[in-house]
Amino acid sequence: MLTFEALSKTFSEFIGTYSFPSEPKQLYDPVRYIMSLGGKRIRPLLALAAYNIYHDNVEKANHAAMTVEVFHNFSLLHDDIMDNAFKRRGKDAVHIKYDENSAILSGDVMMIWSYKLLEDYTANIVDIYKVFTKTSIEVCEGQRMDMDFETREEVSILEYIEMITLKTSVLLGAALKMGALVADASKQDQSHLYEFGKNVGIAFQIQDDVLDTYGDEATFGKRIGGDILQKKKTFLYLKSLELLSESQVERLKSLFALDYTIVNEATHIEEVRNLYNKAFVNVHADETKLVYQQLAFSHLDAISVNKEKTEILRSFAEKLLNRKV
Ligand code: IPE
Ligand code: IPE
Ligand code: MG
Ligand code: MG
Ligand code: MG
Repeated sequence: MLTFEALSKTFSEFIGTYSFPSEPKQLYDPVRYIMSLGGKRIRPLLALAAYNIYHDNVEKANHAAMTVEVFHNFSLLHDDIMDNAFKRRGKDAVHIKYDENSAILSGDVMMIWSYKLLEDYTANIVDIYKVFTKTSIEVCEGQRMDMDFETREEVSILEYIEMITLKTSVLLGAALKMGALVADASKQDQSHLYEFGKNVGIAFQIQDDVLDTYGDEATFGKRIGGDILQKKKTFLYLKSLELLSESQVERLKSLFALDYTIVNEATHIEEVRNLYNKAFVNVHADETKLVYQQLAFSHLDAISVNKEKTEILRSFAEKLLNRKV
């Protein structure tokens, strides 16, 4: 079993030697730019860790790991346009550094490139493509729901969970399942690893929502309050509606009303955050994260290998769900 640091090193070395074409420059420069900003690289590490449960030589899973990371980065290029987000990983988002058309097309090529990265696998190749294709479609569905919810007044927590499962969690599940498929793990193990990743992913997105309002911009690397300005129906917003008094709910809803022009963004964010505080929504977020974390761990426990082999995934999930970045 490799340590988390060793897996991380393996993937960094792989990414360091991997090169995208140099021309057309305007197509591939934005790709190189976003990939060079790094990020936590959790999805490729999940793929490698899943593979490593069954085999030592994890290099064989590097391409599958790269697939999920390139796909994830593609989704960020388009997501930042859709969310009006200017900052990514502490730097200018691609559509700001270059322009929107560049972010669209470089995103497109990354998405297709992520499929190409799988082409040299032979064993289980159909299943690998199937899970990845299904997941890609789901991410688009989730992203559409996320945008639809901005302008929809009634959204239930259950609908929110469905939306984040699609936009975020299934890709974590797929990363693990693809690692397991490359390793030729049993069908049951594949499915438990997928469910582990999916449930961790739900808690992970709730934590992302929390950090978007309560994080530190310098470490989180994204604009704090971005979700509030974009009227996102986040866990914080929806849970607050359940917990606040009638007048506070009315105020929160009016702050999220469609036709306001924000006079002062900082004051607006502050007022919404104060309402979230009154609902102690952070405590509720922690509680809900824990529910999904426990569900995730029950799938990890069901995997047919010695417990110490899945320990790395357990501690990785714990770190991830309490992260500040
Ligand atoms: C950001 O994902 C998008 C979400 C699904 C919340 P990450 O938080 O994994 O972003 P990076 O890759 O580490 O920058
Ligand atoms: C991200 O959701 C989901 C995808 C990129 C597919 P967010 O919009 O919350 O991600 P961040 O906060 O911009 O990273
Ligand atoms: Mg976003
Ligand atoms: Mg988004
Ligand atoms: Mg977010």
